[in-house]
Amino acid sequence: MRILVTGTAGFIGAALAERLLARGDEVLGIDNHNDYYDPALKEARLARFADHPRYTHRRADLANAAAVNAAFTEFQPQRVANLAAQAGVRYSLKNPQAYVQSNLVGFVNILEACRHGGVEHLVYASSSSVYGANRKLPFAVEDAVDHPVSLYAATKKSNELMAHAYSHLYALPTTGLRFFTVYGPWGRPDMSPMLFADRISRGEPIDVFNHGQHSRDFTYIDDIVEGVIRTLDHPAQPDPAYDAEAPNPGTSAAPYRVYNIGNDQPVPLLRFIELLEQHLGRTVEKRLLPMQPGDVPDTWADVSALRRDVGYAPDTSIEDGVARFVDWYRSYHGLG
Ligand SMILES: NC(=O)c1ccc[n+]([C@@H]2O[C@H](COP(=O)([O-])OP(=O)(O)OC[C@H]3O[C@@H](n4cnc5c(N)ncnc54)[C@H](O)[C@@H]3O)[C@@H](O)[C@H]2O)c1
Repeated sequence: MRILVTGTAGFIGAALAERLLARGDEVLGIDNHNDYYDPALKEARLARFADHPRYTHRRADLANAAAVNAAFTEFQPQRVANLAAQAGVRYSLKNPQAYVQSNLVGFVNILEACRHGGVEHLVYASSSSVYGANRKLPFAVEDAVDHPVSLYAATKKSNELMAHAYSHLYALPTTGLRFFTVYGPWGRPDMSPMLFADRISRGEPIDVFNHGQHSRDFTYIDDIVEGVIRTLDHPAQPDPAYDAEAPNPGTSAAPYRVYNIGNDQPVPLLRFIELLEQHLGRTVEKRLLPMQPGDVPDTWADVSALRRDVGYAPDTSIEDGVARFVDWYRSYHGLG
């Protein structure tokens, strides 16, 4: 298949592109290589597959409609995975405009290009952060998500709303995946696993917010990629059981779905840190601090819908996942 993947210099996009190429698909990757975090890491991720004969790369910005349209016209993708976005909750308090450009303007450009290009299925990254101020656990796609606590979350929820409008108006099959704290090799330097690993290996204290009371449904990158591919292969269809008089937020009379994609096993943040310490061979001083604005205390994904519809079955334990992450971390940083 011809699959257009955005964000292929990013953590999840690179891992997805690599797996699609390995199974025989043709991939066009788009990324603007922005410097939100070290662009050298983005280049290093791309170097894993940039020379593959079935891979083509375009350095372009999703907010540039002409560039997006040109990529679609030339490549004629059958399926699209939109993973490029301005990620990060805390940074959305500092630079809201970046989120408007990449996640709102950029996303509309993707929707328009899919609509005019007759794309069979658009899969796009949403986020567990859409659950915002909800406290009912586990988070389920049937729950209302109308109380975001960051602009980042609001842009991701907006993506789901815009996708629904296009699924309804133009019968464009769309599926949103709400990712839950993804970790593993080639991960993101702005996220806690990498921030903690950096500090532990330098012998520096770490800041632990919410006085260490956070728990996260940490999800290993390979499980995520498996779930994204299964979803891409399963275009959304109108749900015959959808009842407009008792609307279920996770489904629709249009070819539209949203799913949680997590591990379904929340892990206390302090346990995650303990595993990092164990594998890095050092203990660390923890500075226990209050909760940060925009943060949520706990996340836990109810993945029953994705399990039922595409057979998603994450099977990487936190112990194995952290071990593999630390192996990669040591070799990437030459720590022996
Ligand atoms: N990693 C997680 O735990 C997590 C959790 C929830 C949601 N998500 C979402 O999943 C997607 C992928 O996340 P990731 O962790 O791989 O992030 P990432 O930042 O590593 O990857 C995103 C990539 O998109 C590119 N990009 C950003 N804005 C762009 C634009 N306007 N035009 C073109 N390229 C652009 C960046 O250069 C980057 O390489 C994002 O949409 C993110 O919001 C990730």
